[in-house]
Amino acid sequence: MSGIWQKPVSHGDILKKVWKHMDLGVLQSKHPFHTPVFGTVCDGAPELRVVVLRRFWRSPARLAFHAHSGSPKLAHIRSNPTVNWVFYHPGENFQARISGLAQIHLDDELADEQWDATSLFARRCYIGKAPSGVSKKPTHGMPDEIVNREPTPEESREGRKNFAVISTQIVKVDVMELDVRGHRRSLFEWSNGELAMKWLTP
Ligand SMILES: Cc1cc2nc3c(=O)[nH]c(=O)nc-3n(C[C@H](O)[C@H](O)[C@H](O)COP(=O)(O)O)c2cc1C
Repeated sequence: MSGIWQKPVSHGDILKKVWKHMDLGVLQSKHPFHTPVFGTVCDGAPELRVVVLRRFWRSPARLAFHAHSGSPKLAHIRSNPTVNWVFYHPGENFQARISGLAQIHLDDELADEQWDATSLFARRCYIGKAPSGVSKKPTHGMPDEIVNREPTPEESREGRKNFAVISTQIVKVDVMELDVRGHRRSLFEWSNGELAMKWLTP
């Protein structure tokens, strides 16, 4: 029977595995790390939603996704930048819970870089209305004329003012690796650029 207890492992090996899957999550749309859960705090209560992982930096460790600038999660972050991410890889049998501090990018180099990398089709989300508004009838939130087609480059520019990148400076990574013979859990915590590592009971 193979599993996590078969060979010795270091904290470094575990973090390397997590980072590898972050890289793959950005690149591969079918990878389980492509669509993590992102949590904010709103009036003291957790608010969770699925997002698409768009960027990952190793050192210092950061993550980012794209959002409509009018979406409620931006207001949550402005009042409390403490956020959480959850990733689960069913094939590799592990979960990574990440806590950190979020930053909103509307008009800086990162926002420009990410906007330039979006397809015309993807820009439709930002041409439309912000998520979470109430509508009298079912709505996609976009102008009707672009529902079934790609916007022209000129039309797509309308979305830039609503486009935000939300980055997270990673402060803590809690990794739970599942194994029938016994799970294994490790914690990585950054403080003033220094990384501390601990084993936890699962
Ligand atoms: C597979 C999937 C991917 C999603 N990706 C994003 C995303 O990258 N950014 C985003 O703002 N919302 C994304 N959403 C929508 C959010 O889950 C959420 O419904 C929306 O952003 C409203 O969130 P808020 O009201 O908490 O701001 C995605 C939803 C699904 C199901």
